[in-house]
Amino acid sequence: MSKKILLIGIGAGNPEHITVQAIKALNRTQVFFILDKGYDNDDLLRLRKDICERYIEGNDYRLVQVQDPRREDHPDTYRAGIEAWHEQRAVLFERMIGEDVGADETAAFLVWGDPALYDSTLRILDRVLERGGPMFEYEVIPGITSVQALAARHRIALNRIGEPILITTGRQLAQGQDAAIDNVVVMLDAHCTFERFVDQDLSIYWGAYLGTPDEMLICGKLSEVSEQIKHAREQARAEKGWIMDTYLLRRTLA
Ligand SMILES: C[S@@+](CC[C@H](N)C(=O)[O-])C[C@H]1O[C@@H](n2cnc3c(N)ncnc32)[C@H](O)[C@@H]1O
Repeated sequence: MSKKILLIGIGAGNPEHITVQAIKALNRTQVFFILDKGYDNDDLLRLRKDICERYIEGNDYRLVQVQDPRREDHPDTYRAGIEAWHEQRAVLFERMIGEDVGADETAAFLVWGDPALYDSTLRILDRVLERGGPMFEYEVIPGITSVQALAARHRIALNRIGEPILITTGRQLAQGQDAAIDNVVVMLDAHCTFERFVDQDLSIYWGAYLGTPDEMLICGKLSEVSEQIKHAREQARAEKGWIMDTYLLRRTLA
């Protein structure tokens, strides 16, 4: 027998967005790794704990809570910053898997949304194996992404007939490479990058805290709702201390 690591997609905020496969995976796990990002009011941490309490029968499991290394802005480049952060996390994961998981036990990372979408857990596990540390097998259990939650709550399909969809980050969008795309889903945008496109004939479907009791939804012509979204976003972030938002920008048909 060897150690087994599960990456369980838990959805992006709604505890009912857990699949049957995820519930079964939760119930065959002995050790849950909970990464504490160190925010004052960590709603995301609480949701992970709630999911364990809600879906696991009995309490025959352990929670191992560790401080997630903070990502420092690197003086040289963005990529160098990410690289240093991933290496720190690999060292941490190696220690956790080595010390906190028994030889024939199963441990799990509860991954926000789906592990395949803008999440580094898979890359870091590969790095742990490359480092030649503890041996383990791993398995991915898919989850509902924030992109799916956004589309469902606005009751839209992400593409119109035959059109492509691009999923990108605020950083990439700001570099302008995606301006000619029909449907762009933007994640990880701390700077309201949509404002740069208000002169174009676009619609926006915006959602924050999707699936949670604090959910916010705004949609309309970008030129008309851009200010409203910016204001709502700033206010919510100031009140809660954090925000997660995603939006679809769609070119209006001529
Ligand atoms: C590091 S990525 C993780 C994405 C995640 N793996 C997924 O499948 O949705 C974090 C970004 O996902 C988006 N996001 C995650 N949860 C969200 C939510 N509940 N509401 C709105 N956006 C969310 C935001 O764009 C946020 O900046």
